[in-house]
Amino acid sequence: MKYKAIIFDLDGVICFTDEYHYQAWKQLADSMGIPFDRKINERLRGVSRMESLEIILENYTGPALTDSEKEKLAASKNDIYRKSLENMSPSDLSDEVRDTLNELRDKGLKLAIGSSSKNTKFILKQIGLEGFFDAISDGTNITRSKPDPEVFLKAADFVSEDAADCLVVEDAEAGIDAAVAGGFDSAGLGSASKYEKATYRLESFGDLLNVIS
Ligand code: BG6
Ligand code: MG
Repeated sequence: MKYKAIIFDLDGVICFTDEYHYQAWKQLADSMGIPFDRKINERLRGVSRMESLEIILENYTGPALTDSEKEKLAASKNDIYRKSLENMSPSDLSDEVRDTLNELRDKGLKLAIGSSSKNTKFILKQIGLEGFFDAISDGTNITRSKPDPEVFLKAADFVSEDAADCLVVEDAEAGIDAAVAGGFDSAGLGSASKYEKATYRLESFGDLLNVIS
């Protein structure tokens, strides 16, 4: 086996919450008359909630906003987003992801989450993966978001493995950059499936089984 542990991003890798993020930001941006589309949304992948808001506000032309007004906007986006999360259930975990995770676990690999999201534990509970992972490193234990490697370095630390023995799985280019900065091999999926900096470029989650041995 090439690796001892695999560190998975959550949104857009384990489940399709990346679409709910987009819908929630879109609703907020529309309500403020701010132009926002899927192209701009690509820049939000892997980036923290407040940094995402700052990217969206690059196209805001209204009166200057105070920090407290920005906090309220981010909270309002999160309220919209949480409503989508509340409707999630274990049926939102695809058979492919569930089966692949189980196979990786059966091979003796440690499995961890490395996500910028502060909603990580709630999402894992909704999709029936509460307690499944050996460690969770998320938006609640980091001070710098991807492309900084902090979230993955903490995940590796939580499972007591060196970065060189861990594979990071990501859908965000910022997440692949974070993996490179931390000394991890990486597998790109979705939006990162063609990113040249990824060690492996995968078409689907199940392809992980082909690259780990
Ligand atoms: C990342 C998403 O996983 O989490 C980003 O890719 C998101 O789009 C970030 O902004 C923070 O998420 P949350 O749930 O804490 O608002
Ligand atoms: Mg992601």
